[in-house]
Amino acid sequence: MGPLRYLSLSLLIFFCKIKIIIIWGLILAVVVEEEGKATAAAAAAGAECEFPAVFNFGDSNSDTGGLSAAFGQAPPPNGETFFGAPVGRYCDGRLVVDFIASGLGLPFLSAYLDSIGSNFSHGANFATAGSSIRRSNTTLFQSGGFSPFSLDVQSWQFSQFVTRSQVVSKRGGFYKDLFPNEEYFSRALYTFDIGQNDLTMGYFHNKTTKDVKAYIPDVLDKFADVIKSVYYLGGRYFWIHNTGPFGCLPYVLVRVPRIAARKDRVGCGATFNEVAQLFNAKLKETVAKLREELPLAALTYVDVYSVKYELISRANKVRASAYGVLRARREVQLRRPHGLRVEDHGEQHRGFGREVVRRSVGEDMLGWDSLH
Ligand SMILES: *[C@@H]1O[C@H](CO)[C@@H](O)[C@H](O)[C@H]1NC(C)=O
Ligand SMILES: *[C@@H]1O[C@H](CO)[C@@H](O)[C@H](O)[C@H]1NC(C)=O
Ligand SMILES: *[C@@H]1O[C@H](CO)[C@@H](O)[C@H](O)[C@H]1NC(C)=O
Repeated sequence: MGPLRYLSLSLLIFFCKIKIIIIWGLILAVVVEEEGKATAAAAAAGAECEFPAVFNFGDSNSDTGGLSAAFGQAPPPNGETFFGAPVGRYCDGRLVVDFIASGLGLPFLSAYLDSIGSNFSHGANFATAGSSIRRSNTTLFQSGGFSPFSLDVQSWQFSQFVTRSQVVSKRGGFYKDLFPNEEYFSRALYTFDIGQNDLTMGYFHNKTTKDVKAYIPDVLDKFADVIKSVYYLGGRYFWIHNTGPFGCLPYVLVRVPRIAARKDRVGCGATFNEVAQLFNAKLKETVAKLREELPLAALTYVDVYSVKYELISRANKVRASAYGVLRARREVQLRRPHGLRVEDHGEQHRGFGREVVRRSVGEDMLGWDSLH
């Protein structure tokens, strides 16, 4: 199995609970792999997929403890299956980035922001839940606020990590084993999964779809700046996830009902998904341009959207966990003090797959909470 193929397969573990549709995932693995440079990346890194480290940038889709370290632990039941306790992931178990790390034979990534028990010998994770590419003008202390650790901030943290980790590592002994070898930076895999919050942010701030579409080029310019900064710091292998069909996420449907009213064949918000697809088309162009500008880099564009969308549209039932339903209900209550009943919420989102149903934790389900 080729290394890139291997990574593609790890992407199958897309949502926290995959069992129901693993077969579809296997079929869809082909969607994930991009030709051309991907193969070059794999070849250059060694046919056996010898990436000695992973450095990740992103939002909650790949946060392994950053936001939790800064602002308080993600509460139970997060982490309840694989880890048996909350571990800073907005998920019951492992995230895609965890499967990528273990697929490469590496330990799970410690969050850069986590000063307790972290070990960065094989990489670091700069992602935090609620991060966007552009800086947000609303803080987490406001309703609907976003993480202050936008992608540019994450890249400054990485830059600091490159230099300071080597200074400390030279103290030897214990410290040497806590940080990557210097040469790892040019051989590591740099993974990115970010952009969804830039799109939802506009809607949550009452912008029109036209406004949101209009700022996509600016978002992608900022994304390209960060890829270049990592390249100039020595990064060569880039694994870039596009954004998912956020028009299928209950929290978006609940918070922006007017735009959510137009549904696609699956029952997801058509307008939101069109915006996600526009973003992805432009991201793909951006990646193509970066390949020209950064001749020594191997950039792989990964079509996460198609995998998630197929998963949702082919599932018989999209099941939210009890936690998901409660969380979605809380979102509704924030908008309307008297709230909607859980059943109303289920009714409102009929057609997202087939129906959103209340399930006890532990059963097969596609969604973990209303956001993930
Ligand atoms: C934040 O506000 C500034 C100044 O008004 C604006 O230029 C920028 O686009 C805003 N950022 C976002 C993400 O809306
Ligand atoms: C950090 O992790 C590496 C790889 O798992 C291990 O060899 C090393 O001993 C760890 N360092 C410390 C200080 O625990
Ligand atoms: C968006 O509009 C709603 C309803 O008019 C309003 O309550 C809310 O404060 C607005 N949000 C922002 C960020 O302007």
